[in-house]
Amino acid sequence: MDGGMRHHQLEAAACQSQSLLPPPAGASSCGISLVAAVCLFLLAASSAIYCFCVVIISSNNESLLLKLKGRISKEKKNRRHQDDNARPPEPPGRGSGWWWSVVETLAFVAANGSGRGFYSFVHARHRRHGPPCFRTALFGATHVFVSSPDAARSLLAAEPAGFSKRYVRTVADLLGEHSLLCASHAVHRSLRRAVAPLFNARATASFAAAFDALTLRLMRDWASTSGRAAAAVVLDAALSVTFEAICDMLVATLPRDAKKQLLGDVLAVTRAMLAFPLRLPGTRFHAGLQARKRIMEVLRREIASRRRDGSLRQRGDHGGDDMDFLQSLLLRSQQQQAGTDDEALLTDEQILDNILTLIIAGQVTTATAVTWMVKYLADSRDFQETLRSVQLELAPKQHQDSPLTLQHLSSMELAYKTVKESLRMASIVSWFPRVALEDCQVAGFQISKGWIVNVDARSLHYDPTIYDNPTMFDPSRFNGEDTKPPYSFLVFGAGGRTCLGMNLAKIMMLIFLHRLVTTFRWEMADKDTSLEKWAMFPRLKNGCPIHLTPI
Ligand code: HEM
Repeated sequence: MDGGMRHHQLEAAACQSQSLLPPPAGASSCGISLVAAVCLFLLAASSAIYCFCVVIISSNNESLLLKLKGRISKEKKNRRHQDDNARPPEPPGRGSGWWWSVVETLAFVAANGSGRGFYSFVHARHRRHGPPCFRTALFGATHVFVSSPDAARSLLAAEPAGFSKRYVRTVADLLGEHSLLCASHAVHRSLRRAVAPLFNARATASFAAAFDALTLRLMRDWASTSGRAAAAVVLDAALSVTFEAICDMLVATLPRDAKKQLLGDVLAVTRAMLAFPLRLPGTRFHAGLQARKRIMEVLRREIASRRRDGSLRQRGDHGGDDMDFLQSLLLRSQQQQAGTDDEALLTDEQILDNILTLIIAGQVTTATAVTWMVKYLADSRDFQETLRSVQLELAPKQHQDSPLTLQHLSSMELAYKTVKESLRMASIVSWFPRVALEDCQVAGFQISKGWIVNVDARSLHYDPTIYDNPTMFDPSRFNGEDTKPPYSFLVFGAGGRTCLGMNLAKIMMLIFLHRLVTTFRWEMADKDTSLEKWAMFPRLKNGCPIHLTPI
């Protein structure tokens, strides 16, 4: 009896543990019957469903199920069709997904840190997707790059209501929130109104004279060393003369040491503009922010000292010839506060951000453009000779040291075409970013609110349907009447945000070109064409070293 009881208890325990453990070989009849019952139930249920379906399908030509399925896909199709009718297609490429943004941002940063330059990122995607636009994701935002004159017109002309200017965050952090370059349309108008009058005819003429004197001094320095083996590095020299000229125009009173420090700091800010926005000591971005702080400090001290010693009024009383931009802006804001001037008032912070903006917008761009121009002419020796003879006719050698005036410059037609062609080929500012403030269409593609649409100027400048043989340096393409479509030559932008300093830039390029071509013959001392890493504007890594031969 005891033995039988124990046997039944063991059987019951085995039955309970069935659900937890796999059935041992030779499982009890209790386990088998439970499993069999479940299987039978499932089999019966699925057969019933199967039979139900077969009956329905066979009894109807168009079964209920098929009808249901058809209706769903029809609705889907209709919805898609309606959407398609209402909305144009989105630009080709992929513009969303955090992982995609990481992949594309890394590719962009890698291009920027390579000798091919950051534009190689855009170029590769243009080739993949074809004109006129493509979409990608960078730094967490959707970016569209467009390259048709019509799209450029719709984005740049007369400050379109649906778009605002948007630079990458790093640029705004480094130039300051009040910078003209980064300001939204709403703030921009009054800032531009306050700064634009500084670029008047008198300021332009005295700037040209000052730049000419600096360039002549550089040519003399080069002449005194030209017999030696060492090559002259054009970029270094151009950065130095453009900086000195622009700095004197903006803040003429800075002592020599302060100017030298400022030059180094301005270059550090420029280098940080496309860097990864890491604020850790030792990073390029952090170094740029520190340099900005030092620049602001120098300018703040300068403003305080002008206010303290009363030089503000005295300089203003002189009638303007000795007035630098800082002085004009301070005086204007003083008069405005006194109620004698109702032009836009700039705060000190706005003045500071825009003095830095003007140095950076003017110095590095122009020096880079000058450097490319010298390189293109080194590569086109025949054209260099032609230009030399034309320029020597305009300003004979015996008068070489006499100052160039704006009248002289306006008679230099071939040199002017050379400047234009160099600007086209170099496309210093490769694209202009604008952010969509609402859903809209550009170039026939759907753009969503918040996307950044970049007018790809470089791609327009190299479009073979607009410029024959676009990769060839050929100033004669600007001969005769201009038959190119509007918005296809965008070296200085267009519309309400056109470059404020474009006349100064052209003047600097013309003067440099005239002085160089009438003093020396030159050739490249290093044929390496790789680009500088992390440069805000594409430029040669070697800075364009040239061997000079006095003529
Ligand atoms: C070859 C030299 C230069 C080139 C290629 C150049 C190019 C440009 C371009 C393309 C823009 C428009 C960007 C956009 O719409 O997003 C621009 C804006 C600007 N540039 Fe220049 N620039 C040059 C020289 C200068 C100089 C010498 C100055 C002043 C000293 C200057 C000051 C400015 C300013 C203040 C703006 C902003 C205008 C605004 O938003 O209202 N630039 N530049």
